[in-house]
Amino acid sequence: MDLGDVQRDWTRLGQEDPLWAVLIKPGTKGGRWDINDFLSTGRDEVDAALEHLTRLGGMPARLDQVLDFGSGAGRLTQALAQHAGHVTGVDISPPMIETAQRIDQTDNCEFVLNQRADLAMFDDDTFDLVYSSLVLQHMPEEAAHGFLREMCRVLRPGGALVVQVATTPTRSFKGMAFKYAPKPFLRWAQTRLLGYPAPMRMQAVSDAQFTRTVADKMTVLDTVADDSYGGHWVYHRHYATKR
Ligand SMILES: C[S@@+](CC[C@H](N)C(=O)[O-])C[C@H]1O[C@@H](n2cnc3c(N)ncnc32)[C@H](O)[C@@H]1O
Repeated sequence: MDLGDVQRDWTRLGQEDPLWAVLIKPGTKGGRWDINDFLSTGRDEVDAALEHLTRLGGMPARLDQVLDFGSGAGRLTQALAQHAGHVTGVDISPPMIETAQRIDQTDNCEFVLNQRADLAMFDDDTFDLVYSSLVLQHMPEEAAHGFLREMCRVLRPGGALVVQVATTPTRSFKGMAFKYAPKPFLRWAQTRLLGYPAPMRMQAVSDAQFTRTVADKMTVLDTVADDSYGGHWVYHRHYATKR
């Protein structure tokens, strides 16, 4: 897998069923997510994460500029916009960007396409908060760590990083399949048996790997297990500030 595969798969997923591809819930396949229900899941997540960041003492004094990395249909971008002056959502998939623009109910979000393996479109020290959920798991390990380093670079000193990663498959049947089945079989099963428009590749970032990658610029404040998405993977959300 390389970023070209990620771009191709998420373009197809975004073309066919963008909201379902962002958040797979029973009864939502085939364009059946209610937009307001979809957006309220983003508000629940962001409100809880920012409350926790505040409790940790890591909330920046101002949230003028926020980056939502892997913004998809803008579910979290719009929620972040309730707390910030301006939010930039970045995604690799053109139809995801188009969907995010189409369903945007705010006047302070912007959605930009980035198909590079870095965030060179942004200067150092640009953002007060960088946020990302349900994204790094879908790209090759090397790319995930490269983007984590880039997120640290574009944060200003005193800025906060809130990033959720998949850490390990659960012991469910599908979780064990992710752990033990060959990757070509998983891609075949997702598209042929489960009817996904394209495969959704998954890979983990352990807590130790995360800490190693961000250590030279960031102080990690907390790491919290996140079971709000249930299913076949264990997720952790990391909270860190830039020194
Ligand atoms: C499961 S969706 C999550 C979207 C959003 N974060 C949310 O939770 O609502 C994953 C998103 O990550 C995007 N993505 C995957 N690799 C990316 C990359 N290298 N750069 C930017 N976006 C990426 C996909 O196109 C897709 O929109």
